[in-house]
Amino acid sequence: GKDGYRHYMEKELHEHPVAIGQTLQRITDPASKRIALPDMPFDIAKVPRITITACGSAFYAGMVGRYWLESLARIPVEIDVASELRYRDPPQPDRGVALLISQSGETADTLGVLRSLKKAGQSIVSVLNVEHSTMGRESDLVLGMVAGPEISVASTKAFTAQLSVLAAFSIDFARARGKIDQAKEEALTSSLLDLPSRAAEVFACTPAIQAMAAVVAEARDVLYLGRGICTPIAYEGALKLKEISYIHAEAYAAGELKHGPISLIDRTVPVVAIVPSNILFEKTLSNLQEAKARGGRVLAFTDAAGAERLKGVAEHVVVLPDVDAFVVPILYAIPVQMLAYEVALLKGTDVDQPRNLAKSVTVE
Ligand code: M6R
Repeated sequence: GKDGYRHYMEKELHEHPVAIGQTLQRITDPASKRIALPDMPFDIAKVPRITITACGSAFYAGMVGRYWLESLARIPVEIDVASELRYRDPPQPDRGVALLISQSGETADTLGVLRSLKKAGQSIVSVLNVEHSTMGRESDLVLGMVAGPEISVASTKAFTAQLSVLAAFSIDFARARGKIDQAKEEALTSSLLDLPSRAAEVFACTPAIQAMAAVVAEARDVLYLGRGICTPIAYEGALKLKEISYIHAEAYAAGELKHGPISLIDRTVPVVAIVPSNILFEKTLSNLQEAKARGGRVLAFTDAAGAERLKGVAEHVVVLPDVDAFVVPILYAIPVQMLAYEVALLKGTDVDQPRNLAKSVTVE
């Protein structure tokens, strides 16, 4: 049941901290602050490239995974949505690894890529919530996200659980390839283990998210902006808004704004920015100033330091807990999904069963 929540989506949003915590419990050793993933069915040091694929939200999780794998483990990553990768036929290297991400383990396009990459000699690692699924049976290794059943068509807690697994996987690869030392592994793992408590604090932001939702609910079109590791979180926010509120939303890497989409901006097109105070903050801030100068209404997800700098630029700010830069995308996914939920409530749409959508897309 819904445990007293109005919708499964609301319940599942509130399960983010538990989903992250249970997932990490399976794949970390909290005492030593080390990653404790199962042994990989290949020699990590010899992997020339990882191919990541998935659909929808799982694909956006994969985009974050690419950032971590490239920057921490210094390994080349190829990534594409499954429905495209299936028909692209890119060359596959010897000893290559395919990383598939799926909540259900039954998505037709992702399964199709799994089978063709297996044929092409790639080792198959799947990040799945439903471990006893078709993809689970056909993988060389399954990394379980322990999110519990997800009923709402819009994915919520599975997304942060996927990210938690991908973070641990990236640390594991970085260590095995000699790119990080033990102190760094402990620091990164600690920042992950700290997440369930920080995630629980996000729900205190509900009133600020509701204030933002009131602006978004009036719009016909919304632009989501992020940069770097937060760009996929902008995509996730836009997808979730489209799915459950039927408001048109588009996500862009903020630096692309002036290469086209800025022509859309006026008072009626709110700009939702995912803008933690990290190394790209100043760059994103100047993108937001450009939007504001064109009459755009800026709504920002940031932290306390970011909120100071956004005064006079952002009309509404959601101030999130300070966390290590490594885990920022995991934390920021939560309020971005909450925003879509609050907008859907204002619109009165069918949150758990949005029109035209199925929970598991088992046809191509
Ligand atoms: O079960 P999967 O993770 O393979 O599903 C992938 C997508 O269909 C899924 O993430 C979809 O985009 C969600 N409705 C997003 O909220």
